[in-house]
Amino acid sequence: MDALPTTLTDRFGRTVDYVRLSVTDRCDFRCVYCMAEDMTFAPKASVLSLEELEQVARAFVALGVRKIRLTGGEPLVRNNVLSLIGKLGALEGLAELALTTNGSQLHRLAPELKQLGVDSINISLDSLNARRFRQLTRHGNLDQVIAGIDSAAAAGFRRVRLNAVILKGRNEDEVTDLVDFARARHIDIAFIEEMPLGLIDEHDRALSMMSSDELRDLLLGHCILEPLGDPSGAAGPARYYRVPGEATKVGFISPHSHNFCHLCNRVRVTAEGRLLLCLGNEHSADLRAVLRAPDYTPQKLRQAIVDAMASKPERHFFDLDDEPQIVRFMNVTGG
Ligand code: 5AD
Ligand code: SF4
Repeated sequence: MDALPTTLTDRFGRTVDYVRLSVTDRCDFRCVYCMAEDMTFAPKASVLSLEELEQVARAFVALGVRKIRLTGGEPLVRNNVLSLIGKLGALEGLAELALTTNGSQLHRLAPELKQLGVDSINISLDSLNARRFRQLTRHGNLDQVIAGIDSAAAAGFRRVRLNAVILKGRNEDEVTDLVDFARARHIDIAFIEEMPLGLIDEHDRALSMMSSDELRDLLLGHCILEPLGDPSGAAGPARYYRVPGEATKVGFISPHSHNFCHLCNRVRVTAEGRLLLCLGNEHSADLRAVLRAPDYTPQKLRQAIVDAMASKPERHFFDLDDEPQIVRFMNVTGG
């Protein structure tokens, strides 16, 4: 076998140094843009074990990955996930361990997550109105999530960011309140355009779409937003602004209105061990098959990851007027 590289590079010269690792496709919420009301989840046996997830993380770090984000579903509902988080928090060579969560467990876990080595946390928050929050998440309890956000803001993470998906006619009137909520806590907030992942029938995505430009215009009447430059590989796909003199950054993630594929530095691994090379395409490699082969070695896993880089697509196309080309739901894709 050839010597393995120490960095991952694709056919278009992009370096992949960021992995989003889904630890479960399950979730205690059913957000209307993410899931159908009735979901079938992967059978337990097909989901990677915590040991397998650790092997995957180690393989990527050996290949030069500097940042791992644990996602779901809801990562904090996975049994024993803290033992995995502690192992990854101690991984030599990993510069940033991040977590994306719906916040439902943070009121009790935030300090421990910090202590185990989590550097940064993204928390979903789409509404500050309890009834509406319940409608959008189908199960979420707003007070509990706000207690979790406050606990995370106090725990001393390098970075805490709120993620808000804004749907026309549902919560676009809350954009300024959400920004003020973040400003009061000195944390960041990003607005994400809804992406057509998975077939949902709760709303028509073409009608509910709010572009980042519309949202920014809504905010401009409310506060001064100073641009912090274009998206970069390091900062990810968000275009950030700052309210002068304040800590809070306001970001806009625009998979529809601004294409950022040329900066893409990331891949995703689903809870079943499928390595997805692009959020908006089906190209993938089956890492679980490598992990569960009788002749498994860490070297073979690393080789499979290196080989998969050749199939990372140049870009995604999201078309709201057609049936989604991507039938997997966001909870499978891994946020
Ligand atoms: N489009 C855009 N964002 C989505 N999220 C979940 N599903 C979608 C979708 N279809 C968001 C969640 C969470 C983040 C990881 O992804 O709200 O904040
Ligand atoms: Fe769960 Fe996050 Fe999907 Fe909401 S967006 S259902 S919290 S995985």
